[in-house]
Amino acid sequence: MKNRLSPSVLAADFSALAEDLRLAEEAGAESFHFDIMDGHFVPNLSYGVNVVSALRKQSKAFFDVHLMVTNPDFYFASCKEAGADRVSFHFEATPHVDRALEAIKDLQMEAGIALNPATPVAFLEEILPKCSYILLMSVNPGFGGQKFIPYTLEKVKKLRAMALSRGIELEIGIDGGVGAANLPEIVASGANFIVAGSSVFRCKKEIAKQVQSLNRLL
Ligand code: DX5
Ligand code: ZN
Repeated sequence: MKNRLSPSVLAADFSALAEDLRLAEEAGAESFHFDIMDGHFVPNLSYGVNVVSALRKQSKAFFDVHLMVTNPDFYFASCKEAGADRVSFHFEATPHVDRALEAIKDLQMEAGIALNPATPVAFLEEILPKCSYILLMSVNPGFGGQKFIPYTLEKVKKLRAMALSRGIELEIGIDGGVGAANLPEIVASGANFIVAGSSVFRCKKEIAKQVQSLNRLL
């Protein structure tokens, strides 16, 4: 499975999203990550699915939606309508993880589970074969620009070992605090989907350069 970079739209210039995404896509970004926050599951608001649908018309990239909301199942259908290719919701946000995964798959999208830093990967043991993807948070969700939490590397290793022992070719994402300095060890630990917000979009003049240099490290 190919390693993929997914720049996080949360860190892009909200007054020029289409332009920032175009710069990243022309430089080789094949996916974009959309952080939808509701001010309940996380202590912050971001944007809703209408941003996903507006950008869908501007981009051919794979759209990865990360729901940081309570009642995630309320939003699956609108994610599909907006043009999402994949939706992940938080394990911690619903008692009905299995049902939520099935609901996303019924809508013909890839289905993923996101885990907060403190949630053990062992909770995924039974459900793993039903997941297209697992998103391991390497910061506490809610804000861009935070510091990478080092113990999440151990979680990536454990999850990769769990998937291998079951013969599952799993896409493992890591989200938060990723940049050129820590990317090599993140990939070495077994992650193959890399979300990066501020390191890509911090400076408009450098977006293309950042995408290219992170892609080279993958
Ligand atoms: C955090 C979000 C992340 C965030 C990453 O709640 O889920 O996707 O945009 O941003 P950086 O790369 O700046 O840590
Ligand atoms: Zn995210």
